[in-house]
Amino acid sequence: MTKTDALQTVAVLVPGHFNDHAVERIDRTFKRVKIERADPALVTDEMRHDVRAIASFAGVNAALMDALPNLELIASFGVGYDSVDAGHAAKKNIMVTNTPDVLTEEVADTTIGLLLNTVRELYKAEKWLRDGSWVKKGNYPLSRLTLRGRHVGIFGMGRIGLAIARRLEAFGLPVAYHNRRKVEGLAYEYHPTLKGLAEAVDTLISVVPGGASTEKAVNAEILAALGANGVFVNIGRGSTVDEADLAAALANGTIAAAGLDVFADEPNVPKALLDAPTSLLPHVGSASHHTRRAMADLCVDNLVSWFSERRPLTPVPETAQVKPRS
Ligand code: NAP
Ligand code: 8YV
Repeated sequence: MTKTDALQTVAVLVPGHFNDHAVERIDRTFKRVKIERADPALVTDEMRHDVRAIASFAGVNAALMDALPNLELIASFGVGYDSVDAGHAAKKNIMVTNTPDVLTEEVADTTIGLLLNTVRELYKAEKWLRDGSWVKKGNYPLSRLTLRGRHVGIFGMGRIGLAIARRLEAFGLPVAYHNRRKVEGLAYEYHPTLKGLAEAVDTLISVVPGGASTEKAVNAEILAALGANGVFVNIGRGSTVDEADLAAALANGTIAAAGLDVFADEPNVPKALLDAPTSLLPHVGSASHHTRRAMADLCVDNLVSWFSERRPLTPVPETAQVKPRS
């Protein structure tokens, strides 16, 4: 059997809706197995026997892994993989891959757009023009806030955090950050605690991964430390924020405004956040054809590399030690 023929026998489970370009490549290379959603209750005996990989936008929990005894690889679409139980995968010798780097610049661009929209109300100003208010009522009111004179704190100075920081430098704004570990050789001011960072800045951008270690890290205490001129932007994960605390802080003026691309229970957005001084986006950080295609290619390249070379291209740290079964 040629290598190409061998790959065509590999069953790849694709739950629910998936990226079109990735589906096209999976269909050309592997045997795609469709399932309505990533739910172990929908796994048939045939899937149980055949499936060796999952390619997915959606989460993969321990129960789905346990339902697929021949599962070797989970190729997750996206850099954040908090919805995949990577710890359980490691215990079961299942490799997990993600799609880092190829989306970094796009997400950083979106973050800057969201920050500008939040402080300068560009969406509302455009709406003013389109709905005829400019003609009927005159100039759009001056924006309450500005980017000028701001001091920005980045919560999560990783790949995307650094790309955001480089852009902010070009805007002439000082940058500080908080990670669990100081990044060696990086000149930006480091704060060993998130509270210390929030106290030192007036603009906080969250770009940390979701998961237990960041769950509701941005809460009433952090927002109070940010202060009344404070702007909070979240491009990381909704789970990192206590949304009730954020809505209260916006309503009572503890902070001035927020720009959010991610939410705790997507696609549901709490009414209190819709009604607050916010700029809200439907999780579009990486959502251009250009970047989603690059993510799709990396997702499928991981499948190809694993089943032809027996090595992953971009393993997540939790499963970096996982070895191929044969
Ligand atoms: P990355 O390079 O791994 O950076 C993550 C950074 O967060 C690291 O510097 C890490 O430093 C820090 N961090 C992790 N856990 C922390 C904690 N508990 N406390 C403090 N700092 C912590 O990842 P990336 O490529 O920049 O992506 C970051 C995240 O952005 C993704 O995981 C994803 O959730 C989100 N994202 C969102 C979109 C969107 O469409 N909105 C698109 C892409 C990515 P330490 O390990 O030293 O703490
Ligand atoms: C995508 C993301 O929207 O990469 C991530 O972590 O949040 C986004 O790029 C998501 O992964 C699509 O499933």
